[in-house]
Amino acid sequence: MRIAVPAEREEARVAVTAETVKKFLNLGAEVAIESGAGLKSAIRDEDYAAAGATITPDAASAIAGADLILRVRRPSAKELAGAKPGAALIAIMDPYGHVDALHEIAATGVDAFAMELMPRITRAQVMDVLSSQANLAGYRAVIEAAEEYGRALPMMMTAAGTVPAARAFIMGVGVAGLQAIATARRLGAVVTATDVRPATKEQVESLGAKFVAVEDEEFKQAETAGGYAKEMSAEYQEKQKALTAAHIAKQDIVITTALIPGRPAPLLVTEAMVASMRPGSVIVDLAVERGGNCALSKPGERFVTDNGVTVLGYLNLPGRLAATASSLYARNLLAFVETLIDKTNKTFAINWDDEIVKATLLTKDGALVHPNFQKSA
Ligand code: NAI
Repeated sequence: MRIAVPAEREEARVAVTAETVKKFLNLGAEVAIESGAGLKSAIRDEDYAAAGATITPDAASAIAGADLILRVRRPSAKELAGAKPGAALIAIMDPYGHVDALHEIAATGVDAFAMELMPRITRAQVMDVLSSQANLAGYRAVIEAAEEYGRALPMMMTAAGTVPAARAFIMGVGVAGLQAIATARRLGAVVTATDVRPATKEQVESLGAKFVAVEDEEFKQAETAGGYAKEMSAEYQEKQKALTAAHIAKQDIVITTALIPGRPAPLLVTEAMVASMRPGSVIVDLAVERGGNCALSKPGERFVTDNGVTVLGYLNLPGRLAATASSLYARNLLAFVETLIDKTNKTFAINWDDEIVKATLLTKDGALVHPNFQKSA
């Protein structure tokens, strides 16, 4: 069993850590890592080598003969040149809207698995990259906001007078939002939060924050069987805007994380709401990649509005704390790979009928096989 880890190109995270290399070796695999692959996550070649990995001068020599290729992001077909047909590739594949790239990967003969399609079942919780990375994104959003905010977050009583606590409003209370609430609370902010799923009210309150939402009949039905939010009616959205507009005007930090599976992110913070905020306030839009929750946020950009509000639309917040993000992602991968190994014979033995394999498998035997990408779908 040979596992290859080519370096990422525009990504600070890495797919294995020294810790997971050791575990792969214990499972009977050998691990080949492209030189420099871990540097941006603070893992040196010598750390990998000390854990038992082989360091290769380039990606091609890592990939040559590999049964399994581990990445953070989807590689191009060109980067997979020389891969063994039937080798498995596991990464965050970002498949939607990139069907051509998936066909190209299929044509290389590599069987590609998308970690983000892992079902949210109990057995696969340890493999859930959406959770492991969203949690860190929520944390980092508060850190970014605190850095931009030119005032202190906690209330301070000093000889020179009292400093008031900052007010932070978290919109969308999934995995990222919950961690944003917890982090803002730890830093001493007064925290409020909103969501359309009723189950979040108790979660918000258990973290010591106040819940602010339109709690009408539609709200009571807003959670799908899968635990996600539905797209709300235009009428609800108007009521929600009316409620939050007055609230946002009084906030120092607004962090938006609201997403709806398969839909563009809901617009929650209008231009008028941004204009109502005080100078020095900060908005961090974690939904910017999916169209944004804030009308003004732009993917990858930081800017300050005419009224002095800083709007952050950074992409890949987990990549801004790459060492931690890599350590969790690497453990998610290890947990998945363990299910693909026959531990007695120390060989790869993929059970194609396993529900986590079926849910994540994108390409096999030269074709794009995932049901979500079939023509009739
Ligand atoms: P997400 O990233 O899809 O959405 C973030 C949040 O935005 C959600 O809480 C959603 O309700 C909220 N939202 C959507 N539209 C909104 C609107 N118009 N206004 C305000 N908020 C809005 O959610 P995430 O973080 O993926 O979590 C979704 C669910 O999955 C949760 O119930 C979570 O507890 C559950 N989950 C289950 C796991 C498991 O069983 N393994 C692991 C992680 C999460």
